[in-house]
Amino acid sequence: AGEVVNDTKVGRPGSCRRIPQSIIIGVRKGGTRALLEMLDIHPEIAVATTEVHFFDWDQNYSKGLEWYRQLMPLSQEYQTTVEKTPGYFTSALAPERIRAMNSSIKLLLILRDPTERVISDYTQVYYNRLENHKPVQLIEDILIRNGALNTRYKAIQRSLYDVHMRNWLHHFPLEQIHLVDGDMLIQDPLPELQKVERFLNLPPRIESSNFYFNQTKGFYCIRSDGRERCLHESKGRPHPVVNSTVLQQLRSYFQEHNLNFYRMVKRSFNWN
Ligand code: A3P
Repeated sequence: AGEVVNDTKVGRPGSCRRIPQSIIIGVRKGGTRALLEMLDIHPEIAVATTEVHFFDWDQNYSKGLEWYRQLMPLSQEYQTTVEKTPGYFTSALAPERIRAMNSSIKLLLILRDPTERVISDYTQVYYNRLENHKPVQLIEDILIRNGALNTRYKAIQRSLYDVHMRNWLHHFPLEQIHLVDGDMLIQDPLPELQKVERFLNLPPRIESSNFYFNQTKGFYCIRSDGRERCLHESKGRPHPVVNSTVLQQLRSYFQEHNLNFYRMVKRSFNWN
């Protein structure tokens, strides 16, 4: 419980900032922003709009739980507070730190085809560098070093879902980590969101009328509270066409890791 705010300028009477009962832990470029924004449609969910990086960045973690709580949105007693920081999934320390805060927290992990995720990761860095007037490289020049796949490339490392998941399963039972299929969330968001509603024990409030397909963007956008909005233009950008041999090398590199991940989570995905 946090302090109760009775100032109506700050929030409704009785509202306060609460430690999240659910966290979207990743994966980077998996569709974490879409998931958060779509869950925000639900009247019983309150979301932290900015990425907090509390459990993965030491300089934030050392500020303590009260600092963290102050970054949460105002919420009512009946609401579930959700924050998302995609960097948690690949952080060595985030699982044990989150467990130390609340061992019964509900974790959400949105994943997407690991190869697609690498290309999406590259595309994001590419545009960031362009905006900051830094030199950019072709994706093939990063993926291939001395004729072989550069498996030390961070974007490839982040797509090794089995490696990261193993660390989470050391600290949380599988039932406490709900997997959202990021590829499905793109194609047809509602069923994935309904599964999250059930996982969070919330009444079904998100409906098909909350989504409409925007032809120009090429993605679903949100209709809620009489407003229509699409995600920021940095979400859903075209990807570069990658040389097919390189693409094949990437896919085969992930194959074993994916199978290992399916065994770990007792479920399979349409990757590769
Ligand atoms: P791309 O921009 O590579 O297509 P994150 O928010 O975790 O960074 O994930 C970004 C990805 O979310 C985008 O990657 C996009 O594919 C995906 N996404 C899922 N649903 C979306 C939606 N409705 N609108 C825009 N992007 C969406």
